[in-house]
Amino acid sequence: MNHGIDISFYEEDFLIRSLDKRLIATNTHSYKAYSDYLRADKKEIDFLANSLHISYSEFFRNPLTFSILEYLVLPSLLEKKKLGKEKEIRVWSAACASGQETYSFAMILDEVMDGFSTKFAYRIFATDINEKELFKAKIGAYYPAALNNVTFKRFRKYFTKQDETYIIVPRLMENIDFSVFNLLTEKEDCPPVSIYGNFDFIFCSNVLFYYNTESQSCILERLSNSLAPGGLLITGDTERNIVKEHHFSEVYVGSGIFKKKNDGLGIKNDKIPVI
Ligand SMILES: C[S@@+](CC[C@H](N)C(=O)[O-])C[C@H]1O[C@@H](n2cnc3c(N)ncnc32)[C@H](O)[C@@H]1O
Repeated sequence: MNHGIDISFYEEDFLIRSLDKRLIATNTHSYKAYSDYLRADKKEIDFLANSLHISYSEFFRNPLTFSILEYLVLPSLLEKKKLGKEKEIRVWSAACASGQETYSFAMILDEVMDGFSTKFAYRIFATDINEKELFKAKIGAYYPAALNNVTFKRFRKYFTKQDETYIIVPRLMENIDFSVFNLLTEKEDCPPVSIYGNFDFIFCSNVLFYYNTESQSCILERLSNSLAPGGLLITGDTERNIVKEHHFSEVYVGSGIFKKKNDGLGIKNDKIPVI
């Protein structure tokens, strides 16, 4: 199978580590021997592609980030939206893997919106390069071990048991569109199903560090173009320094929640949200 992966996008150390793991797994002892093996064994290309698209994810992976979104950011955003005409929150979960990040935020949106007498809606566009992971995300079925970070209250509210797995309730699923989207090579800046970007939140976590500096800039440029005025970019803990080097500033120290530096709207200084 041709995976259409351009390895020149990747960060060199990450590429070498991934190749070295495949050298060990295939018992080949040099890049030349591995290259011959790769040509001879058609299945190896799938294993190599998988090692480049690490898809590990968790529910509420960075608890601090999700708490700040739940207790500070979302309530202030909804207070602001209450006064305006637009009552929908638009979210892009870019590189959503098998859906844990997407559903975690959907649970928080559902709960915070429930506390308001004004009726709000939300739409999440969840994308990934990996079709297999997206398929799992759409099914939304998880083994109990994957639900460790989910509180009992949320577990009862948002999952139903089916055989050995727990499935996300339709109420959350119906607000989410899943589609394939390659953050580096697509023509559009944001998923075509979203029609126009203008996202209040974009999640792009645990993916930037695979890529070289040029590719990181290209991804961050797209995300920046797709944010609504006052919109926020959420990244993983390991990528905060990468994002800070671009035109973003962190809204709360250590939170992984960023606003565009030139964005006068939304969260106004680095500590206090005045949305
Ligand atoms: C480690 S997972 C992170 C999942 C989730 N964001 C999280 O933080 O738990 C990285 C995901 O990025 C996806 N990915 C890697 N490169 C991508 C690209 N160029 N465009 C879209 N998705 C990509 C992978 O397929 C994988 O599912």
